[in-house]
Amino acid sequence: MKTNQDGYPELKGKPLCFYQILPSTNDKARVWAEQGAAEGTIVQADCQTAGHGRMGRTWQSPPGKGLWFSLLLRPQIHPQFAAQATLLVAVALVETLRFVTNVSCQIKWPNDILYKDKKICGILSEMKLTPAGEVDYIIAGVGLNVNMERCDFPEDLIDRASSLAILTGRQWDRNLLLQAFRSCMEKWYGLWLADGFECIRDEWLAHNCTLGRQVQVKDDDRVIFCGRAKALQADGSLVVQDDAGREECFNFGEISIRF
Ligand code: BTN
Repeated sequence: MKTNQDGYPELKGKPLCFYQILPSTNDKARVWAEQGAAEGTIVQADCQTAGHGRMGRTWQSPPGKGLWFSLLLRPQIHPQFAAQATLLVAVALVETLRFVTNVSCQIKWPNDILYKDKKICGILSEMKLTPAGEVDYIIAGVGLNVNMERCDFPEDLIDRASSLAILTGRQWDRNLLLQAFRSCMEKWYGLWLADGFECIRDEWLAHNCTLGRQVQVKDDDRVIFCGRAKALQADGSLVVQDDAGREECFNFGEISIRF
């Protein structure tokens, strides 16, 4: 494995496959991954015509407005730990935003990046296993609303979504943000592989806005549990306790929450 001067696996110098327009960078990254693309490869599009989010939702990705990209990772880890990778992407993104824009964002479980409860970034991670059951690759898709204005959001999202431009009153250089993300990600990814999940979890907890809050757990659009978000398990799942004191643990592949 090629490492940088700190001994972390190198992500920064890896290929950046840029497209003006794609249906979805996650779908294209999967094609590159199947063809053997190296860990750290990024697939970026100026515009996505069929960007998708968690729970089968669509992701608005107009041209010139956002950072729509997918990062390919090939960690040699047990598949049970793969979900942690998405938490570390969230941690790296929060750090990137703080460094570049001075905006301190928070993480809503599992992986939404919010500012004052408005979503500015979402992460969609997908994993493929080898026939032997090992992790073949993980694709972490990131949708960051950089220069979106209020009028760029559909009516139903206007009150729940935001962008760096709306928050700061200025436009941001998407390339600068992407380069900064690569650096932050290289550091957190290296720490994760070398030392495990503990430091990622600590950082995630330090920036989360979920624990302690009343949440509705939803499966598609059906509320299946209500209670207070109590803890983050080591595997990334969320413990919720209802008013009767009953606790349930939810895995983030299956559900979403609403404050
Ligand atoms: C979510 O919040 O539901 C996740 C949204 C993820 C959107 C990004 S945009 C780049 C990448 N390509 C996709 O089709 N989706 C992700």
